[in-house]
Amino acid sequence: MKGLILSGGKGTRLRPITHTQAKQLVPVANKPILFYGIEALVQAGIDDIGIIVGETKREIVAACGDGSQFGCKFTYIDQPNPLGLAHAVLTAEEYINGDRFIMYLGDNLVVEGVTRFVKQFEKNAPNAQILLEHVRNPSDYGVAELDGDRVMKLVEKPKEPKSDLALVGVYLFDQNIFDAARAIKPSFRNELEITDAIQYLIDQGLEVVPHTIRGWWKDTGSVEDLLEANRLVLERLEPESQGKVDASSEIVGNVVLDKGSEIRNSVVRGPSIIGRNTKIIDSYVGSFSSIYNDTTIIGSEIEHSVVLESCLIENIGVRIEDSLIGKNVNIQRGDRKPKALRFVLGDNSEVGLV
Ligand code: DAU
Repeated sequence: MKGLILSGGKGTRLRPITHTQAKQLVPVANKPILFYGIEALVQAGIDDIGIIVGETKREIVAACGDGSQFGCKFTYIDQPNPLGLAHAVLTAEEYINGDRFIMYLGDNLVVEGVTRFVKQFEKNAPNAQILLEHVRNPSDYGVAELDGDRVMKLVEKPKEPKSDLALVGVYLFDQNIFDAARAIKPSFRNELEITDAIQYLIDQGLEVVPHTIRGWWKDTGSVEDLLEANRLVLERLEPESQGKVDASSEIVGNVVLDKGSEIRNSVVRGPSIIGRNTKIIDSYVGSFSSIYNDTTIIGSEIEHSVVLESCLIENIGVRIEDSLIGKNVNIQRGDRKPKALRFVLGDNSEVGLV
């Protein structure tokens, strides 16, 4: 069986972090979202993986390489325009070359991995297998209507959803999906929808098997959402220390300290992760925090937050909570008079003074 990971599309501005980047490379618990998908496939025994790339190809290739760091082989497949998920499937037809395959959307994270679903698909050999999860906002997804264990209808982003079961971005297919993708017409958003292609399989009387899961996350670009993904992953964190902790520091619970990290005269409470060459000095890092690489925190307290690389947070005086802090950000308190707040904030920034 082959793997197909969709990492095409346009670079998006990650709200409220303003720089443009491939959304699949946004780190969750200090690791790009895309890597969770790759690792899940490799763990399920899939070592031949095609990656669909578009406008952000350079970034994706630079981050993922040839696959050897994951124990698999990558074939990059260019999709010149993001014309839909079913269009991406057609773009990969030559690469798939008659095999059955699992398709994984690169901005999705399925916390339990996919091994169970790959095994079921290999054993029962239906024409397609889909994953579903109950969600609060079904209109933002493809939505499934079931009758017992049978999929009756799939609709992409319905205004009036008939159920709260969203299509998770992991699908398993046999060859029939290619004819289906060729048979459908572009949707309201002018894309060839994989949802419509699977509906076509159902209409042809082919077997589409649903599985309902829990613990799925998809990037929607909000801070709350990213913090939630961070929580989901950190909850399963295995402690590991490749960093230095001095005698006056305390590490409590499951904490990962990456290479070159240093904890001096500080408390770090897990689950939390401290990135490569990051320094925590005279500070408190509380539960559910991910502090990425090359960042320094001095004389400050932070909890339930995500900090990206190369930041400096110094002498803040009040605890930073529920925050997402982008790359290269400096937050410092000085002792100059008159006392004032001084900001240089990018577009769409949000500052909460409490
Ligand atoms: O995440 C689950 C949802 O994914 C499903 O519930 C929907 O039924 C399905 O249509 C899809 O919806 P989105 O509108 O959220 O998909 P998005 O455009 O975000 O694309 C998902 C991934 O696929 C993303 O990593 C970019 C990549 N992609 C997207 C398109 C349209 C491609 O590689 N090529 C494309 O043409």
